[in-house]
Amino acid sequence: MPKIIYHTFDGAVRTVDAPDGTSVMEAAVRNSVPGIDGDCGGACACATCHVYVPEAWLARLEPQSDMEQSMLEFAENVRPDSRLGCQIKMSASLDGLELFLPESQH
Ligand code: FES
Repeated sequence: MPKIIYHTFDGAVRTVDAPDGTSVMEAAVRNSVPGIDGDCGGACACATCHVYVPEAWLARLEPQSDMEQSMLEFAENVRPDSRLGCQIKMSASLDGLELFLPESQH
């Protein structure tokens, strides 16, 4: 089963199992990873699932949709490596995906 490695802002590391098709937000919420709330349930309407994706992984993700780009404009501390976790769906090819959580979600 694919795994996701979350680095929280305080330096803690959490590794969780994420079945195929599960979003990065869903896997975090199910495993109580602090810093990802997923308030809108994955509807791309809250930005509480904001994550930073290392460059090597960023290139392997599906491109952002227009809706994700629009929603990210409302997130704090947005950077070029910002994505919304609810829009990243896990698959075997993303096994070991590393993500970093913004300070604003500390
Ligand atoms: Fe609301 Fe991702 S969970 S935008």
